Amino acid sequence: MNPTVEIAGITFPTCIMNAAGARCVTAEELEAIGNSRSGAIVTKSMTLNARDGNPTPRYVTFPHGSINSMGLPNLGYQAYVDLIPRLKEFKKPVIASIAGFSPAEFLDIATAIDAVKPDLMEINLSCPNIEGHPQIAYDFETAEQLLTRIRNVVNRPMGAKLPPYFDPAHHDHMATILKRCGVNFISVINSIGNGLVINPETDAVIIKPKGGFGGLGGAIIKPVALANVRAFALRFQGHIPIIGVGGIETGQDIYEHLLAGASAVQIGTAFVEEGPQVFVRLEQELTTIVERKGLRSATEAVGRLKEF
Ligand code: SIN
Repeated sequence: MNPTVEIAGITFPTCIMNAAGARCVTAEELEAIGNSRSGAIVTKSMTLNARDGNPTPRYVTFPHGSINSMGLPNLGYQAYVDLIPRLKEFKKPVIASIAGFSPAEFLDIATAIDAVKPDLMEINLSCPNIEGHPQIAYDFETAEQLLTRIRNVVNRPMGAKLPPYFDPAHHDHMATILKRCGVNFISVINSIGNGLVINPETDAVIIKPKGGFGGLGGAIIKPVALANVRAFALRFQGHIPIIGVGGIETGQDIYEHLLAGASAVQIGTAFVEEGPQVFVRLEQELTTIVERKGLRSATEAVGRLKEF
């Protein structure tokens, strides 16, 4: 099977990569991704200043899922300006994820990161874990203004990391905005924001920040992720590639994301739990399925979902 995929003119050695979540903050973590079978090196969303993130416990698994409120711990964008040229030596695409707390911050970070030429830039419009900063992508007007301004300073292919939407009218509206803003790809979905998990033994929440509210990930969110991939794929008709994120634990999960319309996938919770070797396992499992289906490449499966 041909494992390579192309997104926004960039060739990826495989369609499976890490998500801008955990294990992608420090130079050591990013180099470990570089040395793995991950199809790209995706950085943690970087902010203007370095951040320790939210108080712990801030990431906990529970049956079939995870909840996190990491709070964007990262080294600050200047450290990634220095790191990205080194990461490019791994000869696989580098995706720089950026997050600001104001339009001016987004623009400063985007301008500086664009200058060191990551292969793609992912604009995080969907972190649910910062108190006082709602998820930008739920405010359609602000999201459009921001993406338009970032597009004006970014020459590299750029994409938006989106939260889940739950109504076709919202998929319609956001798809129209993304087309107008000249976005080259989307990554969908971020964690399902502001879930609440209770420990039955202690009658307490299981993470500390925000009174226990946090982003849900892992197997339980797969149907929501697939629905969002499919909803945007139907609206983009191949013109804007989609990176599917959410609920991927097996090669079958990846295959379903491809069927729904994703060209590639990102791995969050399973990468946190298994480490870099997860990419080898997932690639083997996906290859077995793709070959069993008689396809020559993962790309051939993209968007082939059947409807009744
Ligand atoms: C976090 O750092 O809080 C998670 C990242 C995100 O949701 O974008």
